[in-house]
Amino acid sequence: MVTTQAGATEPDWSGYYARRADRPPRELLLRAHATYEQGGRGPGEAVDLGCGDGADTGWLLRHGWSVTAVDASPACEPYVRLNAGDYTDRLDLVVADVADVDLPDADLVVAFFSLPFVAPERFDDVWERVRAAVQPGGVLAVVLFGDRDSWAAEHPEMTFHTRAAVESRLTGLDVVELTEDERDGASDVGPKHWHVFEVVARAL
Ligand SMILES: C[S@@+](CC[C@H](N)C(=O)[O-])C[C@H]1O[C@@H](n2cnc3c(N)ncnc32)[C@H](O)[C@@H]1O
Repeated sequence: MVTTQAGATEPDWSGYYARRADRPPRELLLRAHATYEQGGRGPGEAVDLGCGDGADTGWLLRHGWSVTAVDASPACEPYVRLNAGDYTDRLDLVVADVADVDLPDADLVVAFFSLPFVAPERFDDVWERVRAAVQPGGVLAVVLFGDRDSWAAEHPEMTFHTRAAVESRLTGLDVVELTEDERDGASDVGPKHWHVFEVVARAL
């Protein structure tokens, strides 16, 4: 099922999706999934926030999950469909701003390189709803941008975190992984200094 919210528009991500066609699932997804499996539970309901091309959604579908995939960019739909393959019956694609979506209860919630694009004034509310979506024993895996990321100075419309702020957001969760990575590198729009936090946490 595909639901497109009226007015769902975003910067054009189609070039980004096309350049990553056939990408493998994020390593963080595989680590989060392994954490989930350690709880002895089988595939259930997953949410992929800012799913983009849908490579991670596709991996989850192929591994037996039902997935609610959310992305604000209408350009994602053909890529997500391609990655969903024969499993569209277990896919609910919601084309909308994550800040405007009622998230379902989930066993696994992932958000890779997407939540930093939520505006600072909406982030607290989005984070609260993301946390509430993860059911007890479920797993949350997110990538957040750090305050020393070079985009922090250029993009006040995005959200960046200090390490202390990330730790504070994780209060009350069983934090399995909090990896901080900082290095010069490339992005789709040129060189940048990356400062990211990779998180895997279990809801108690
Ligand atoms: C850098 S891409 C990452 C895509 C994918 N998760 C990945 O790991 O490759 C960021 C994605 O987040 C989506 N996005 C950005 N802001 C969003 C928002 N407020 N609500 C929903 N999706 C958003 C964009 O449309 C884009 O597909």
